[in-house]
Amino acid sequence: MKIKKLFLQNFRNYEAETFEFSDGLNVLFGKNAQGKTNCAEAVFYLCTGASLRIRHDKQLIRMGADHAFIQAEAENRYGKVTIEATIYENKREIRVNGSKIAKNADLMGHINSVFFSPGELRLIQDGPDERRRFMNISISQTSPAYYTALLRYNKILDQRNSLLKDKDFNLVMDTLPVWDEQLCSYAAIIVKKRAEFLEKLAPYAKEYHALLTDGAEELLIKPDRKYEGDEAEIAKTLLHRLENNYEKDLRLGFTTVGPHRDDLDVTINGIDAKAYASQGQTRTAALALKLSEVQIFKALSGEYPILVLDDVMSELDLKRRKKLLGCIADVQTILTCTHAERVLYGAECNKIRIDNGRII
Ligand SMILES: Nc1ncnc2c1ncn2[C@@H]1O[C@H](COP(=O)(O)OP(=O)(O)OP(=O)(O)O)[C@@H](O)[C@H]1O
Ligand SMILES: [Mg+2]
Repeated sequence: MKIKKLFLQNFRNYEAETFEFSDGLNVLFGKNAQGKTNCAEAVFYLCTGASLRIRHDKQLIRMGADHAFIQAEAENRYGKVTIEATIYENKREIRVNGSKIAKNADLMGHINSVFFSPGELRLIQDGPDERRRFMNISISQTSPAYYTALLRYNKILDQRNSLLKDKDFNLVMDTLPVWDEQLCSYAAIIVKKRAEFLEKLAPYAKEYHALLTDGAEELLIKPDRKYEGDEAEIAKTLLHRLENNYEKDLRLGFTTVGPHRDDLDVTINGIDAKAYASQGQTRTAALALKLSEVQIFKALSGEYPILVLDDVMSELDLKRRKKLLGCIADVQTILTCTHAERVLYGAECNKIRIDNGRII
């Protein structure tokens, strides 16, 4: 997949600007707070319908404007695709090749992107939320079935959690099995897809991490909880787990088992990375995960996603920068940095200088 053109109107600090990208490495450079990340964010938004830093689309609209409009002209192996988003304070409209899409799931897969920024260290260091988010965003892009199951699962989970707080014990005990049946059917889809994803991801992650560390470190990733069997069996196992936890769930007022509580075990040389890894190790592991994600997209969809590297070069040492550039040679990349010449060592690229929301 390649993005050819990106038009931003009243998006963040852009009034109206058109970016033209080349197929290989594109470098957005400029001083701090000029709009480099904003541009990267727009690309990610058009790929996933999700913004990076915020929950409310409102912040994406340029201050003083009443709506933002962003448009990408891209190409995937089926041909040209245009994606447009008009973002209002309380709603948004997304169009794919001119047709308005009814749900976000219909956006997934047209253009895939992998985003990496220093904040991605959270992927290793923070709580399980970040790792689930990583899996959810990544798997959703290649599997609309996963995305739909996730939305439905979350909805029923919310309802189940409200029910658990209900004072009417008989009502709760009568209703729980009804919710649980549905919850487990969606949970099983999520669990199964995550397992397939991790099975593909883990060997790549190990390989990339070894490459980036010259073989000094071994990165292992696996699900923290094992589920056996096919979807039907997983659903059954989960149903039992839910039943076994009725008392606990009622006491705590929320659902304590299920894929919304699952995590990944990440170890470096056999040691839990979350608890013990250094900054540099964490950064390398996160980068290895992201590079693996690129390969998985390629394996699943037949083509490379667009790689967005926001501000990551300055955090890597010289050797790793060079290795990174080597790893991404075949992937269309949008890279942001403050000093293009310091990070690229003459690598061939399309340089775009950004100053105060303008290309110069
Ligand atoms: N909705 C908005 N309306 C107007 N300006 C905005 C809006 N949202 C963000 N900005 C401005 O955009 C600028 C930040 O842009 P961005 O995060 O892209 O910077 P950057 O070039 O990536 O900088 P750095 O090198 O520090 O990461 C800030 O000056 C911020 O005030
Ligand atoms: Mg930035």
